[in-house]
Amino acid sequence: MDKVLVTGGAGFIGSNLVDVLIKKGVDVVIIDNLSTGKLKNINPKANFLKYDLSTIDISELINILDGVEFIFHLAALARVQPSIEDPIPYHHANVTSTLNILYAASKSKVKRIIYSASSSCYGDSDKVPQAEDDETNPLSPYGLQKYIGEQYCSMFSQVYNLDTVSLRYFNVYGERMNLDGAYCLVTGIFARQMLNNQPLTITNDGNQRRDFTYVGDVVDANILAAQHPANLNGMVFNIGNGQNFSINNVADMFGGDKQYGEKRLEPFETLADNSKAKKILKWTPKGDLKKWIKNYKIELGI
Ligand SMILES: NC(=O)c1ccc[n+]([C@@H]2O[C@H](COP(=O)([O-])OP(=O)(O)OC[C@H]3O[C@@H](n4cnc5c(N)ncnc54)[C@H](O)[C@@H]3O)[C@@H](O)[C@H]2O)c1
Repeated sequence: MDKVLVTGGAGFIGSNLVDVLIKKGVDVVIIDNLSTGKLKNINPKANFLKYDLSTIDISELINILDGVEFIFHLAALARVQPSIEDPIPYHHANVTSTLNILYAASKSKVKRIIYSASSSCYGDSDKVPQAEDDETNPLSPYGLQKYIGEQYCSMFSQVYNLDTVSLRYFNVYGERMNLDGAYCLVTGIFARQMLNNQPLTITNDGNQRRDFTYVGDVVDANILAAQHPANLNGMVFNIGNGQNFSINNVADMFGGDKQYGEKRLEPFETLADNSKAKKILKWTPKGDLKKWIKNYKIELGI
């Protein structure tokens, strides 16, 4: 791998991916509009270009892709609840940007696009663990938009002969996860509440379960998907730890007081059947949420 583009490289997962690629000696171009990403996350050895991918001029994007072998497409507005309140900007960021990337890539010499998809496409599935061939039933504009992105990837593989692969991440946690705002993920919310000496707020009864996946494992999955020797032709992989915890369990790992109140429409249980990624990509998740939270609490001094 010589030269790659990472979209969303100023964000939580993208910046972790960029750091590993740079350590491996890869030439990295980042495109990010800094809507949720942060300048301080950007590796100084990367070539950072500030563009909004939903409005970028396509010929300019094609020029940027000169010499790029792989695109890791992570740029997105990645929050469920705000996408319900304000679906249109989410559509531009999540669907139009993906179409622009795919179309420009189809006009260039890019070998493969590795698309960040989401387990939110499964919705409130009764069947656990969730496998890639299970029915999809997104419960938010965000979930639907990420799923449309996957379908665009698969269509571009079939119709435009552009190799793509979609990785459906399950609740990602780890270094640089977002702690700001009401709608960051539960691990970020609990960390912030612990820092502010506030009770840990739990939606519904807290018995809902989530498969939490370590960001380093998500980075590994991206790199393995890029390095896979055969064409992946729009293939979809679950990238989840394969073990889940209730939100009450996670609150206990942080150790603060709990406060119940808000009711929300959300899946009851997410759990990845990750056997396909293990078999085909040779991916092995190594994350241990309990251990990580223990160390993170020491780091934050909470
Ligand atoms: N964090 C998770 O648990 C999770 C789970 C499933 C899927 N994902 C997917 O992984 C990817 C990365 O998520 P994250 O958690 O790192 O989110 P993040 O918000 O930290 O990163 C997203 C990045 O995309 C950039 N961006 C947004 N809209 C853009 C646009 N129009 N043009 C250019 N850049 C734009 C943001 O500024 C940000 O830096 C997203 O595609 C998300 O849907 C994340």
